Amino acid sequence: MNTGFKHLSAPIMVQFEVTIQCNNSCRFCYNFRRTKSKEKIQSKSSVIEKKRILKELASLGVYSIVFTGGEPFTYSNLIDLLKYAKQLGFVVYINSNGTLITKKISHLLKEINIDGVMISLHAACSEIHDSQTNKNGSWKNTINGIQNLLEQKVHTGINMTVTNNNYEYVYDLGKYSVELGVPFSITRFIPINKRDTPLELSYQNFKKVLIDIEKIKKLYSKKINILTPFPLCSTYKISKNFADARCTAGLTWCAISPNLDVRPCIFTSEIIGNLKYNKFIDIWNSKKMKRFQNLNNNSKECLDCEILQLCLGGCRQLIKVHKKDPLMMGMVKFKDISIKDQEMAKIKLKNIYSKNPRVVLRSEEFGATLILSQNKYVFLKGQSSIFIWNLIDGKRDLEKIAYNLINKYNISIIKAKKDVIEFFTELYIHELIKEEN
Ligand SMILES: C[S@@+](CC[C@H](N)C(=O)[O-])C[C@H]1O[C@@H](n2cnc3c(N)ncnc32)[C@H](O)[C@@H]1O
Ligand code: SF4
Ligand code: SF4
Repeated sequence: MNTGFKHLSAPIMVQFEVTIQCNNSCRFCYNFRRTKSKEKIQSKSSVIEKKRILKELASLGVYSIVFTGGEPFTYSNLIDLLKYAKQLGFVVYINSNGTLITKKISHLLKEINIDGVMISLHAACSEIHDSQTNKNGSWKNTINGIQNLLEQKVHTGINMTVTNNNYEYVYDLGKYSVELGVPFSITRFIPINKRDTPLELSYQNFKKVLIDIEKIKKLYSKKINILTPFPLCSTYKISKNFADARCTAGLTWCAISPNLDVRPCIFTSEIIGNLKYNKFIDIWNSKKMKRFQNLNNNSKECLDCEILQLCLGGCRQLIKVHKKDPLMMGMVKFKDISIKDQEMAKIKLKNIYSKNPRVVLRSEEFGATLILSQNKYVFLKGQSSIFIWNLIDGKRDLEKIAYNLINKYNISIIKAKKDVIEFFTELYIHELIKEEN
């Protein structure tokens, strides 16, 4: 498991809000409220400025960009920006409500080779979805958009934002998505302030949501994702599958507003700096960004909890609003979290592994980061883990690798074998290696 986060040389992923304009007005949306505020007037940046920032992010080794908003397809220069981001070598995703994705647009997305589009859909039927988006006909237009993307074979996902108003429909929408052949994700509603509390999932409703997505996963054995964090103490008894949704805002990712403010995540209004006046790298390395990441902001109970480094204490925006994540259930012991042990059992010293060819290695002050996707990465802390990584060749078994480690670092055989098993467990969980037959 990725315990003990280090400060990275740059984020793995950046969510770039290209506009705050939108053709829906969802009841729960943090962005929609901004369109009513003075931020609307200050929300502009030119396409040239946006490109300059993409170039800086590429030079820092940022792995992927998620274009979002507002509704990104209301932004007239979107296609130009997407092309540029692909030219720079980013893995490029788009978050969209899908309503403006015509046949022509989906064809263009295919041509540009966009890596994926995540479509927001909040129920399997129009009545409930349209009541969430405050827009009659939006469900139908979103479904048209999904169909246009599927026709062009653009990787498409469905993401449902779950509040106390629509939590009962998670199962139906999950089933609907799976039947369409589209991966299903849920996002937990995150409040801007205390006034939003009625929309926040209560523990009972959250429990039903987890049980329902477990059911969908079992029935259809498909990949279901949770895109927002939960405290581990609230999930580990109900669902081992979803027990790793941690808050890595400001640690592995951050957000850029349309006016080029940098925020630690899309849900928070906290501004760390502005890219019209500062370089991205200076904002990323600033004390303010590091303060947001600081685990000491957690409640006393979390600070005393054995597994804080693993759980990180739930959503940081919720901690800001309520002083602690309201779904926090209380301290947990390492021995109660058995995910790692289960996976460990599969890693044997006689096994041979090869590297996933899609893994990217990025140098860091502490060693390196191996990146497979925005959610799958492993930190190589120190030279010994880089040494082991370099020995993986699809031919040596783990025993041989352990002996190489002993020769190089003069450590005991017991320690070498334990370190190798632990390291390969982490690589295996994150799909960075595969077992050879
Ligand atoms: C702000 S939207 C922007 C992109 C696009 N308009 C869309 O709806 O996908 C990005 C995602 O954030 C979700 N979202 C908006 N407000 C939220 C909130 N307060 N808590 C959790 N998710 C939220 C939306 O449902 C959507 O999936
Ligand atoms: S469509 Fe997206 S940006 Fe627009 S109001 Fe809904 S969640 Fe917000
Ligand atoms: S008490 Fe805090 S750190 Fe411990 S599992 Fe719960 S949320 Fe995580």
